[in-house]
Amino acid sequence: MPSLFDPLTLRDLTIPNRIFLAPMCQYQCEARDGVPTDWHLVHLGARASGGFGLLIAEATGVVPEGRITPECPGLWNDTQAAAWKRVVDFCHGQGAAMGIQLAHAGRKASTYRPFAHRSGSVPADDGGWETFGPSAVPFPGLETPTEATPGYLAHVVEAFAAAARRADAAGFDVVEVHAAHGYLLHEFLSPLSNQRTDGYGGDLAGRSRLLLEVVDAVRAAWPAGKPLFVRISASEWTDGGFGVEEATEVARLLGEHGADLVHVSSGGNVLAPIPAGPGYQVPLAAAVRSAGLPVCAVGLITDPRQAQKVLDDGSADAVALARVALREPAWPLRAAAELECDDCARYPDSYLRGRWPAAEPVR
Ligand SMILES: Cc1cc2nc3c(=O)[nH]c(=O)nc-3n(C[C@H](O)[C@H](O)[C@H](O)COP(=O)(O)O)c2cc1C
Repeated sequence: MPSLFDPLTLRDLTIPNRIFLAPMCQYQCEARDGVPTDWHLVHLGARASGGFGLLIAEATGVVPEGRITPECPGLWNDTQAAAWKRVVDFCHGQGAAMGIQLAHAGRKASTYRPFAHRSGSVPADDGGWETFGPSAVPFPGLETPTEATPGYLAHVVEAFAAAARRADAAGFDVVEVHAAHGYLLHEFLSPLSNQRTDGYGGDLAGRSRLLLEVVDAVRAAWPAGKPLFVRISASEWTDGGFGVEEATEVARLLGEHGADLVHVSSGGNVLAPIPAGPGYQVPLAAAVRSAGLPVCAVGLITDPRQAQKVLDDGSADAVALARVALREPAWPLRAAAELECDDCARYPDSYLRGRWPAAEPVR
């Protein structure tokens, strides 16, 4: 059996294979109340029935002002948790494990969704809100954030913990703390956005303090048997940013603080050219893996043999797919056929007649 289809056990959870659906914002909470909708049920449900081992639901605000756009989901109240539970229950019925990415968008909150009629920050009279960051330094093109006070940071830490409790009530198996892509926790990690002179800035110990406080609080609120992931940007692709050496040290600290897997992405905090190409972030995952925690690689992994090679090379313990899964919700079913393992494919009974034909053996 190709190891892409090996189960992965973390704490008490066994994920049925190593193919994860990467978190992807859908911007589909039209009522702007953070409550997931039928769209989320269909989007995630299709990929659960498409054979992904673990689905990680999109960046989900732990506080209203932590949403990226007004149409992003949340997990700061019980109505949202109940709506997520419906999605989780359906996906569990398809054999997938379910994760959710808990997020605070920091200085990149309150923006228009990509397919809106406008771009940039949403003004208050169109449903936007005040944003918070480590320092009053804006992301290019967006409003200047308010520097977060220590009191506000304590509130954010508690909000992450409360959201984790709700995620447990909704039945999620995994929570992923979003510390990548230039959102609040990444903004604190990066010296390019964090210019604080208090205990949350300065050296790596100061810049990683908020992330570790969040991880401690989530770990305490989240059942001991359930795994906790953290997504980081392990390069900013520019000088002076939060780079792979600091990211590897943070991964080591995350392990000490009870995280179970690091999901290695890059970029998002500054405007810098990213050398995107097939598997372009895999070397970052491999480097971070030297810290000793399991890692998931992501970024233009689109071909089954390519995905298998990431595991064979020892670069990562799992792969996550994003854009390819938008166009191909049942990618793992094709991967099973291409990797010549019919038994690896988890088809819903109703779809059995549409099985991929067994691949010709390679001679
Ligand atoms: C539509 C869309 C929405 C995304 N939303 C999120 C998100 O909510 N959280 C996150 O960490 N990354 C998000 N990403 C980034 C993906 O998870 C992934 O890291 C990136 O697309 C690279 O993987 P790919 O080459 O397989 O698409 C998003 C990407 C896309 C295309």
